[in-house]
Amino acid sequence: MAAPRGKTKRATRGQARESALAVPGLAAHCYASPEFFARERETIFAREWLCVGRLEDVPNPGDYASFELLGEPLMLVRGRDGEVRVLSRVCRHRSMILVEGAGNARSFTCPYHSWTYGLDGRLAGAPEMDRTPGFSPAKCALPGPKIEIWEGFVFVNFEPKAKPLAPRLAGLARHFRAYRIADQRGVRSFEFVVDWNWKVMCENFIEIYHHIGAHRLSLEPVLPARLGRTEPAEGPYTIMHSPPKKGVEATGWMAGGGGAALPPIAALSGEQANLTTFAHGFPAHLMSFFRDRIEYYLIFPEGPARTRIRKVICVLPETAAHPDFEAGIATIAEQFLAFRQEDVMVNDGVMRGVRSRYAPRPIFSHLEETVARFAGYVRAQAGARSC
Ligand code: FES
Ligand SMILES: [Fe+2]
Repeated sequence: MAAPRGKTKRATRGQARESALAVPGLAAHCYASPEFFARERETIFAREWLCVGRLEDVPNPGDYASFELLGEPLMLVRGRDGEVRVLSRVCRHRSMILVEGAGNARSFTCPYHSWTYGLDGRLAGAPEMDRTPGFSPAKCALPGPKIEIWEGFVFVNFEPKAKPLAPRLAGLARHFRAYRIADQRGVRSFEFVVDWNWKVMCENFIEIYHHIGAHRLSLEPVLPARLGRTEPAEGPYTIMHSPPKKGVEATGWMAGGGGAALPPIAALSGEQANLTTFAHGFPAHLMSFFRDRIEYYLIFPEGPARTRIRKVICVLPETAAHPDFEAGIATIAEQFLAFRQEDVMVNDGVMRGVRSRYAPRPIFSHLEETVARFAGYVRAQAGARSC
């Protein structure tokens, strides 16, 4: 007799989890060695989709926002045609950095010899260059990585032949449709430069086993580690649910938190409205989903033990218009800054630990399936023998 469908599904799921946990974690040198970071530059960052911002970062024609990704000076620019592009900020003449910071421009004029580029990157003027034989302005447009917009996020890929991103994240988009990710608007943002490997940040983000330790007084009483549940994934991403303790409302994000609450997102199912959920798109796209908002992290690795991080809290336009918005968002920001200190403490400690001659190869609990899957991804990209 065939087993009931639910039972078969559960059994297969259990096997999948066990096989994920049977995979060893990454060797300690993967978190601090310049050699392994150099390998990741080639095997991950040079060919995978990396998130660098949101369309809303450059809302109007002429808006630009500079950033540096793996040492590459780039900028987000919205053209007069409304199109958002990611362009190099390195002048095509003698490599001067064309522009810094953010603002609104009609064109970009290089501070060195005044070559001028349009918002679409085309060279519009180059003083005295008409006497240079063979000089062709058409060949001097600002280049840039491949770009794809996913749910309002701007992703880039340095590999011109990279396959599209959307099919890889289709399951993720479907799972979180009710949150209307593309309509969310950033209302608070924070920037940090940390002495952590980028993977230490991702791993700390995507497991809630550590509520039991690092957050035992703040998050554990509300979101107990043992209730954590991993959602099956259909692509290179993981989803981790953190249900609240019985009888505790999902709004009570921190023990003794209190404060004004924001209204829940209307389209969420009853189950979603009671969950906090974390999602990690490989390699480094981190999002968290709450009943009233979403949050995301942009990760800019700067070295094996240095990472620039931008955290943004987003709400839907109707939430921002709610009378309780200011008080509610102030509480959320305050609570984030408080429990963030607990993550800083453990991530700092891990970075010291992985440099030890006695650093272990991680062994995972069933609550760290997400971390185990990420290790599998890194290993597949970088080559099993290297890690
Ligand atoms: S380096 Fe930009 S104009 Fe010369
Ligand atoms: Fe944490």
